[in-house]
Order: sequence, then structure tokens, then C-alpha cells
Amino acid sequence: MSEPVLLPDGRWHVSSGADVDHLLRNDRCVPAPNSILQGLGVDWMLHHHGQIHAAERRAFRASFSPRSVWRYRDTVTDIVDATLDRLDAGSVDLLTEYAFPIPLAVIAALLGIGDLDPVEVHERWDDMMATYGPLDEAGLSAAERSTRALMTVIEQAMADPGKDTLTAAMIRAGDDAGIGRDVVAADLLLILGAGFDTTMALIANTIAELLQRGGFVGHDDPDGLAGFVEEVLRTQPSVQWVGRVAADDLEVGTTIIPAGSRLVLSLADANRDPNLFADADHFDPSRSPNAHLSFGAGAHFCLGAHLGRLEAATAVARLAARYPRTRLIGEIQWREHALLRCPRALPVELRQV
Ligand code: HEM
Repeated sequence: MSEPVLLPDGRWHVSSGADVDHLLRNDRCVPAPNSILQGLGVDWMLHHHGQIHAAERRAFRASFSPRSVWRYRDTVTDIVDATLDRLDAGSVDLLTEYAFPIPLAVIAALLGIGDLDPVEVHERWDDMMATYGPLDEAGLSAAERSTRALMTVIEQAMADPGKDTLTAAMIRAGDDAGIGRDVVAADLLLILGAGFDTTMALIANTIAELLQRGGFVGHDDPDGLAGFVEEVLRTQPSVQWVGRVAADDLEVGTTIIPAGSRLVLSLADANRDPNLFADADHFDPSRSPNAHLSFGAGAHFCLGAHLGRLEAATAVARLAARYPRTRLIGEIQWREHALLRCPRALPVELRQV
């Protein structure tokens, strides 16, 4: 078992699967607060812990349960098919033309938000995410502007939430649980943003992996793709690591991590730990169980995990059904990103025969 490593910047890097799992479930190892976002009035469930976090999870979990997500199936399929309809056979970058637009269109439809410009939302979300790193004056004002712009989108949706939308359901559930509307708004903003980069990465990584392993033929059934998607999640987690802060001294292996320390919990390392996964570097779609940590674990386990899986399986299977003989053209280029594993471009030739 590997011990935590103290990085030059003062953070502790934890890579053992058992330790990462244990620390994700340890209530003395808490999400790192983001003071810039909090200063901008965006304090969402990912930063909360204890009672307020438990209340948010209780209130909102029904909207993301397997049963609820099952009801979103037709919406997801319609959006995937409409995106496919805009593609022609021949050369295309599936990252920008396919994996990128689908997740945002899905979450916008579920939240009851019309007409979002995916490029603009993506840029604004990137500005907000930059607050998790060091930020200069220009970065801070971009984050402020972008936060205000996305919050306006959420406030408009909340003012006119429609009947059957996630927005309406979350407002109702929040009111019933006595959760303030400002917290509901912040959580809706998190849900708008948290799902699209991660799901885009999962769709793109799954397409890339399939095309490098014999192609699309025989992979046109979303349910049949489930094991393949799980193994892509394990071997190439969209989110490579999550951050935490030690609320007390933490004993990890034989190391004591002092209270106040920042931790990097490496999901990517944990998922390749031979103590948790036999033949861990081998890609095996039939692996069962496949208890990877790509959606986190414990209190902050991804609320959108079922939805992310549904979107990826549907998007890839429908693409495979329409263009079974698709092949990669050129090298996959990977995005340079501190957190995400995702191609920057996925150049393919779409082919039916
Ligand atoms: C394949 C796609 C996805 C991946 C890999 C992913 C990954 C993760 C991970 C690793 C966490 C835990 C963060 C932590 O512990 O600090 C998380 C939390 C979260 N995810 Fe996802 N996610 C995905 C899709 C989605 C979608 C589609 C949504 C919503 C529609 C979503 C909403 C959330 C929310 C709200 C949280 C915070 C939960 C909490 O703090 O209690 N995610 N996700």
C-alpha cells in the first residue's frame, strides 16, 4: 500500500484505493471551501458538509434516482438523435460536434431552460472553475461576470419553472425541507455546470476507447454498453482527483496528515490499485463488481451518476447504430487540464458501410 506523498506545494497526494475510499467517507476530511465563489454568493452543496449538506441530499436525491432518470430516457434519446441528425457522413470532430453539445442540451431541457449557447455557457463555467486555482485580477472579474450571468439564467428558470422540470421539483423539495431559495439556486447552478464537462469527457472517452478496440459494430444497444462505460470510467475517470481539507489530524497508513492540510485524493490512482482491482491495468468490460471511485464516494457521491451513465450509453449506442463503420482519422489529441481527462479533438470519419 502506498503512503500519502507530501507535494512541493504543501498538499498531500493520496493514491491508495483503500485510503482514498476511506477519506472520501470520513467526515473529518471535508470539501475545500472556495472563498472566491462564496464571496460571490455561490455556496453550493459540494462545499457544504454536516446537517445542511445532508438536508440538501435528502431533498434532491429523488430527482436523480434511477427511477427519475429512467423517465428522462426519451428526452435524452431525442436530444442525441437531433444532434446526430445535424451530422453528415464523412470527416467530423466528434468532440465539438457531438460529445460537447449533448450534455448541456440534456441538462438545459431537464431544468426547463431554453436556448442556451453551449460555447458561452462552457466559457462562463470555465471562468467559475478557475476560482478553484490561483486567480489574478482579470480572472476574478471574469469569474464575477460569469457567475452573475449564469445565476441570471438560473433565476429566470426559477421564476418560471414550468410544471415537470427539475427546477420545479427542486424548488418544491427545497421549500418542503426549509432550505433557503438562495441555496436551491446555487445547487441548480452546480447541477447546470457539474454535469456537462464530465459527461462530455465520458462520451468522448468511450467513443475513443471503442474505436481503438475494434470499432462500433455490435455496440448499438445502450444497455449492452453499460459494462464498457463502467470500465472507461474506471480506467479514464473524467474527474482525475478531488480536493479535501483535514478538519482534524488524519491517520493515513503510517502517516499523520496534520489538521488544516489540503489533500488531493486521486481517483485515477485509486481505480488502478491492484489491491482493489485484479489485473488493474487490463481493460475488461466484463469486470464485475467494478467498484471504481470515478463518481466519488460517501456524502458527496455524484448526484448525477445515473444521468451521466444514461447519457453516455445512449449517445454512444445511437452513434454506433447510425454509423457502425466509423473510424478514427489521425491522433486523438488530449486536453491539457489539471483535473479532467478528455480529448481536445476526436477526428473521425463517420461511415455507415
Ligand atoms: C460522467 C459524468 C460525471 C462524472 C464522472 C462526475 C463526477 C463527480 C464526482 C467525482 C463528484 C464528487 C466530487 C467530490 O467528492 O468532491 C461529483 C459530485 C457531483 N456531481 Fe457529478 N459527475 C458526472 C455527472 C454529473 C451530472 C450529469 C450531474 C448533474 C446533472 C452531476 C452533479 C453532481 C453534483 C450536484 C455533485 C455534488 C454532490 C454533493 O456535493 O453532494 N454530475 N460528480
